[in-house]
Amino acid sequence: MLAIRSLSSPARQCLRAAPRAAATWSISRFYSQERVAKYEGTKDANGNYLVSLIEGDGIGPEIAQSVKDIFSAAKTPIAWEPIDVTPIIKDGRTAIPDAAIENINKNKIALKGPLATPVGKGHVSLNLTLRRTFNLFANLRPCRSVAGFKTPYEGVDTVLIRENTEGEYSGIEHVVVDGVVQSIKLITEEASERVLRFAFQHAESIGRTKVRVVHKATIMKMSDGLFLSVAERVAKDFPNIEFDAELLDNTCLKMVTDPNPYNDKVLVMPNLYGDILSDMCAGLIGGLGLTPSGNIGDECSIFEAVHGSAPDIAGKGLANPTALLLSSIMMLRHMRLNDHANQIEKAIFDTLAEGKALTGDLGGKAKTHEYAAAIIEKL
Ligand SMILES: NC(=O)c1ccc[n+]([C@@H]2O[C@H](COP(=O)([O-])OP(=O)(O)OC[C@H]3O[C@@H](n4cnc5c(N)ncnc54)[C@H](O)[C@@H]3O)[C@@H](O)[C@H]2O)c1
Repeated sequence: MLAIRSLSSPARQCLRAAPRAAATWSISRFYSQERVAKYEGTKDANGNYLVSLIEGDGIGPEIAQSVKDIFSAAKTPIAWEPIDVTPIIKDGRTAIPDAAIENINKNKIALKGPLATPVGKGHVSLNLTLRRTFNLFANLRPCRSVAGFKTPYEGVDTVLIRENTEGEYSGIEHVVVDGVVQSIKLITEEASERVLRFAFQHAESIGRTKVRVVHKATIMKMSDGLFLSVAERVAKDFPNIEFDAELLDNTCLKMVTDPNPYNDKVLVMPNLYGDILSDMCAGLIGGLGLTPSGNIGDECSIFEAVHGSAPDIAGKGLANPTALLLSSIMMLRHMRLNDHANQIEKAIFDTLAEGKALTGDLGGKAKTHEYAAAIIEKL
């Protein structure tokens, strides 16, 4: 107890000093008003856009097959280039094979099935490695209620953007002395600006008129304080978007009480808050099996289902491909292939609402390929 008291006193002084330091920062500008994360892929000789496809582990190949079948039936102008991301160790660190990096850099866009991460041994998470390799700075997670799949909440339609490269997940941790560890939350003005600018631009592109920053700047005065100040500055470039901010605990309470007031907003926040809140939103619509996501970067973007490789049902034809399908719809919209996206999305939601060909996780008896065939019939 004595030791704690002697440590806490200077620490408190340090905290008290923080807001004054934050207030004196001059906020500069890293990005022009140009669109961040613009898709700049090109068509091949047959008029198709090339897309890198990482089928992934476990149920990955089965759900990827459904996407390929449905895209082919819908005559989507996409040519898939399958790539192998089995990790290699380069200079003592987990790395993606060069051929895979070159392919994604060339195509500028990828669709990814789930990748298994070994627990407690072997390579570090490939998902993290992909985010770092391609500097995928924004994680975009929309959650929309699925008609025909009843949950305690109705009409949920949230859009959440999580900063994906720094914050609490910067991986800067060390032991100060035995029994005392320190973890550093790193927030930079540059990374904050690009994710915030993306959030405002995304709101415009999907027709939402409000952007809300979720934060804890009351406690994290310097780090979240910086994120918030950058947001206030970026907001001035978007006069048609209403901007406000809300404390994370307040957001959680209000969302689980009634998520509908969030249907007209885009929420944007630092890494850890986004990780937790995005799974909470997935829970509002019935879980991770229905939740798509996009990892957005300036050079390339990777779209993926949020669920894992489901080794317990792999190879049995039981997997639900909806999350990967909805991720591929997000990908089409990022590529500005909106008509194709709308057509396939409608067929998916109609099939789910009809409820005749649902997979086991949604209470049905259909196999993965039967569900995909039902969607194809509705195209
Ligand atoms: N983005 C990713 O690539 C990602 C995300 C999470 C976990 N993982 C990895 O996946 C592996 C398994 O992880 P886990 O078991 O904790 O989580 P999981 O998401 O794979 O499975 C959890 C439960 O949900 C079910 N499930 C998941 N997806 C489903 C689908 N599409 N259709 C029907 N049922 C589905 C599974 O059968 C299982 O019962 C681990 O190696 C983990 O590291 C990868």
